[in-house]
Amino acid sequence: NGVFTYDPGFVSTAACESKITYIDGDKGVLLHRGYPIEQLAEESDFLEVCYLLLYGELPNAAEKEQFSSMVMKHTMVHEQMVEFLKGFRRDAHPMAIMCGLVGALSSFYHDSLDITNETHRQITAHRLISKMPTLAAMAYKHSVGQPFMYPRNDLSYGGNFLHMMFATPCEEYKVNPVLARAMDKIFTLHADHEQNASTSTVRLAGSSGANPFACIASGIAALWGPAHGGANEAVLKMLDEIGDESRIEEFVAKAKDKNDPFRLMGFGHRVYKNFDPRAKVMKKTCDEVLGELGINDPQLRIAKRLEQIALEDEYFIDRQLYPNVDFYSGIILKALGIPVEMFTVIFATGRTPGWIAHWHEMISGSYRIGRPRQLYTGPEKRDFVPLDQR
Ligand code: CMC
Repeated sequence: NGVFTYDPGFVSTAACESKITYIDGDKGVLLHRGYPIEQLAEESDFLEVCYLLLYGELPNAAEKEQFSSMVMKHTMVHEQMVEFLKGFRRDAHPMAIMCGLVGALSSFYHDSLDITNETHRQITAHRLISKMPTLAAMAYKHSVGQPFMYPRNDLSYGGNFLHMMFATPCEEYKVNPVLARAMDKIFTLHADHEQNASTSTVRLAGSSGANPFACIASGIAALWGPAHGGANEAVLKMLDEIGDESRIEEFVAKAKDKNDPFRLMGFGHRVYKNFDPRAKVMKKTCDEVLGELGINDPQLRIAKRLEQIALEDEYFIDRQLYPNVDFYSGIILKALGIPVEMFTVIFATGRTPGWIAHWHEMISGSYRIGRPRQLYTGPEKRDFVPLDQR
């Protein structure tokens, strides 16, 4: 009947019901299936959180063992994927490669196309969690011209990822448990965040009945943007540009200037109007990793000072702009030796259980195809003008 609620950016529209994640942005609270993210990040591990997101409860010891060994047993990808990867330019952004590789998985697993089958849906969810780190590391190895390293299923999820990134056939990568644990925490902190842009994209794509690999590929595409998953890459570029503590005030002034498009990257959030609870854990992890590696990173000093200045500034206070999850994650990833272009890929790897849990929740319940409406602001009806009369 032409009467719609106009809500650009979906600021006040709930598009679904979900039992997975709860956020209270005013209080800075994030719960997965009721458990606070700080507790999950510090006391649990990524695979346990994957299980929790998918199945609704923390696994008992036997369930945990079974789930973890099953995920770690399926980390390999079809050798044909290597041929597919070789078609990408060496200088392709790894997120472009990930969109292609993950979409291509649907051409290898025909059972995933039957989304009405609960067992197939679960197998697809496990496959995605198993294979994302492998694909991510393959995208990296391709960019640096090194041979791909096969996964090592005896390692932890985070440790295996670091192995696939940094080992070579000539040299084993000795996994440092502190760094592997930090990697695991980074994945955990990104595991889900209710109806963010990429998860909403996965749900919207899934609402048409599209296969789950295609849906996750669409989520990866949505995550790529600098306002979403690309922010940690943008934070490091910003810290690089600032270059010295003496220039922080200048950049804060730029961020406040409404005639300047520059924003403080890693600051602000659509939902959090308080500290992002993930940012606090990330800051602590950052100190742990840099301490372990004995790194004195000037960018960390700039970041901490920038945070302090912004948090005392009226502009940021009035708009309730606090550091978000991306503010410190880039500094940790850099310390781990991960190049900036891979940061969003790591976010995508961590977010995979969230995407697939939301897809699974939607498909398992009753749902309709997502079909937003619009307010039309174009010309009124008019008659076609032949080419020679225009
Ligand atoms: N620096 C300076 N000003 C800002 C910033 C910032 N980072 N973020 C928001 N503002 C201002 C904005 O200019 C506006 O001011 P005014 O009311 O005077 O016009 C006000 O704060 C509200 O901003 P908004 O753009 O309406 O807020 P939003 O909810 O649409 O955007 C955001 C949220 C995260 C896109 C935005 O805060 C931003 O661009 N932040 C920087 C990018 C970033 O760190 N993104 C990662 C988000 S967390 C990870 C994820 O979920 O992907």
